[in-house]
Amino acid sequence: MQTETILTGQVLSFTGSPFGQNAADAARFYEAVGIGGGQITALGTLDELRAAAPQARVENYGDKIIMAGFVDAHAHYPQTAIIASWGKRLIDWLNSYTFPEEMRFGDPGYAREIASRYLDLTTANGTTTVATYCTIHPESVDAIFAEAQKRGQRIVAGKTCMDRDTAPEGLRDTAQSAYDDSRALLNRWHGVDRLSYAITPRFSPTSSVEQLEALGALWAEHPDCLMQTHLSEQVDEIEWVLGLYPQARDYLDTYEAHGLLGARGLYGHAIHLEPRERDRLAETGAALVHCPTSNTFIGSGLFDMDGMMRTGQQVALATDTGGGSSFSMLRTMAAAYEIGQLRGRALHAAELLWLATCGSARALHLGDKIGNIAPGMEADLVVLDYGATPVLAQRTARAGDMWETLFALIMLGDDRAVSDVWIGGGRVV
Ligand code: GUN
Ligand code: ZN
Repeated sequence: MQTETILTGQVLSFTGSPFGQNAADAARFYEAVGIGGGQITALGTLDELRAAAPQARVENYGDKIIMAGFVDAHAHYPQTAIIASWGKRLIDWLNSYTFPEEMRFGDPGYAREIASRYLDLTTANGTTTVATYCTIHPESVDAIFAEAQKRGQRIVAGKTCMDRDTAPEGLRDTAQSAYDDSRALLNRWHGVDRLSYAITPRFSPTSSVEQLEALGALWAEHPDCLMQTHLSEQVDEIEWVLGLYPQARDYLDTYEAHGLLGARGLYGHAIHLEPRERDRLAETGAALVHCPTSNTFIGSGLFDMDGMMRTGQQVALATDTGGGSSFSMLRTMAAAYEIGQLRGRALHAAELLWLATCGSARALHLGDKIGNIAPGMEADLVVLDYGATPVLAQRTARAGDMWETLFALIMLGDDRAVSDVWIGGGRVV
């Protein structure tokens, strides 16, 4: 692929996972990155890239940081308008705020409005790929895929399925309609442009056994699709699940017994796991999605990042908006750091940045396409200004090295630190 544009700055590229080694050794910095045909074409010095592509346009970002766009591995775009709703824990929060809002998405006009607003907000925060739940309404799935397609974005989305009377009337499908609608949406969108479909049972408490089985069968018919759901977020929720599924050995077993455990499974939260669940998830290679701002905001608990990484789990990072309290993956990394501290493990800036890019991309089985800057990868980039606000500028002026600067950027940054975003090789205006 020919280089059409060269961006200069401090270009961060990961050479491997920073977990299990000296974290800083997992990354390299370059002066310039080349882009052409929607992909990364080259990394090196400006002179090297210019010599290889003398016709290329040069965009000079000074000493700003250029890295892969953030990958948010678990979000609920239909909850955009109810983010920051006060005072409830999970089940009450769903009933009080979430379900009434999600009911509105049968209206395609409203679904389109929120889908567009959501992608504006996430892009402004430097997030270039999301894996999002929709609502039970197929219209909500069409809305987000159509909007992402228009913007050339790589996203993962799926129709949320719920058929038990634990979900309110008006927000329920059936086992058969969940299968039929999910299959039709998958056939319409999966693999089109940069879009992928995820089979999406919301969580065991809102699905019947028949629905879980039907979606397990659909996954077996389309094994290249992802499957996303929730697992062991709050202690009360786990008790509720075990009451509804008396045969189940544990929460994970409610999925496993119905064909919903696999390497392409994404399990949101996964905080309060039993040893058997940990073992099965690790054996399967399924991904645990850490949602730190949500876990503090809804009061769910402290994810065991260190334990999970030590035992070889696949871990992704996510906002879980609107249960999460921010659209920003910088704020999300800061919350992951704080939760790590509460569990006695200070995560390195390289680990946090890797989780928000490579780690999440790998969990979505997109690690060969997005989540890093390397030749052949798709050109989804974020340009970060570590002097964007007075607080950042005065702190980073003191930094002794690049990692100290990046750590301050994580802890103090938000959308104001996002200077530019490139999606599919094009600059987002
Ligand atoms: N569990 C089931 N549905 C949801 C949701 O929408 N948000 C969160 N945080 N947890 C859930
Ligand atoms: Zn969620």
